[in-house]
Amino acid sequence: MPGDKSISHRAILFSALASGTSTINGLSDGADVRHTLAAVESLGATVELTDAGVCIEGGRLHASGQVIDVGNSGTGIRLLAGVAAGLPGRTELDGDASIRSRPMDRVAEPLRLMGATVGGPAAGRFAPLVITGGSLHGIDYSSPVASAQVKSAVLIAGLAADGVTVVREPAVSRRHTEEMLAARGADVSIEGTTVRLRPSSLHALDESVPGDPSQAAFWIAGAAGVAGSEITVEDVYLGPARDGFLDVLRRMGADIDIDATGGSAATISVRGRSLVATEVAPDEVPGLVDEIPALAVAAALASGTTVIRGAGELRVKESDRLATITQLLTGFGVPAVAEGDRLTITGGAPLRAATVDSHGDHRIAMAAAIAATAATGRSTITGFEAVATSYPAFAADLAICTGA
Ligand code: S3P
Repeated sequence: MPGDKSISHRAILFSALASGTSTINGLSDGADVRHTLAAVESLGATVELTDAGVCIEGGRLHASGQVIDVGNSGTGIRLLAGVAAGLPGRTELDGDASIRSRPMDRVAEPLRLMGATVGGPAAGRFAPLVITGGSLHGIDYSSPVASAQVKSAVLIAGLAADGVTVVREPAVSRRHTEEMLAARGADVSIEGTTVRLRPSSLHALDESVPGDPSQAAFWIAGAAGVAGSEITVEDVYLGPARDGFLDVLRRMGADIDIDATGGSAATISVRGRSLVATEVAPDEVPGLVDEIPALAVAAALASGTTVIRGAGELRVKESDRLATITQLLTGFGVPAVAEGDRLTITGGAPLRAATVDSHGDHRIAMAAAIAATAATGRSTITGFEAVATSYPAFAADLAICTGA
């Protein structure tokens, strides 16, 4: 699997913030992560590609005179907003049309409470964001959404703030920031859904990025529902709030073996068989938020009606995923309805070949490709190039999996 995208962004940002030289191997080679590498260079880190991986010399970041382009990356812009808030001076962050339509007030508000100025043509509600940072103070922030991006932006800003920063979440979101800051010497502690951080300086670290479970989910969900399929994915990260999709697939009757291979990584083997529909409750969503496009394909292959509730956050991802998943599945002849924050999929009938569009969303393009392998006949996915955002080798891996 390609390196985990969430861990890759953080490895780059924390190496850039840390004094000394860090080496990272196994970084995601997707466009999102390449934008974050370029961003830290623009903020003053030295980035060198070597045989051992990417070397980053950090510790001397400053506000950038150039506009920083995050491309399509929500994680990139929100975490960089936290970095920029800690830097004296003015930094401008921008991205593509999808980024410009995604809510940024969720990070602008807490960063302002910490003392940063966050503005821009849309007053900080949408990108471009213009951030003037420095002189921050810690806050005790109760986030209205369970979002690792919001939590991370506040914690990153908290590194440079006076006093303690506390982030409280309505449910646990992925914990990479807390774990990776602790590994670099930050004074951070977790208690349930509350994270506390004291101002900290980070030290350099050499690290390997494990494989991305959100990418593995496409192969696992696709194989699980097609009798006769067999697939093994190696080196998949399975830490907190990233493995919820496996519980859901098992509930649907999937035959999945997980073999822990050290650290938080595992080898996952799947044998396809008939699946049955399930219900996904709102409190499960933060732990599988990026895997819902893959799970929707599994639901299309499963007999009965699957209901996913409390998935409103999908409306503000790279596309309105409740709408784009519905369009995708109906294209393949699968009854699917999105109402409010609920997605209902009635599966079990054969999928028919279709022409569907990615809407510029990498995960919709990959879900469409997996659905196409299960459909009879030839399907067309327009905008398939969106996969390069996170998984440039997706088509090559698809050819291996399907023997094409
Ligand atoms: C991410 C967190 C999630 C996820 C995104 C990556 C991260 O977003 O959807 O793809 O790396 O922190 P939210 O935390 O905003 O839900």
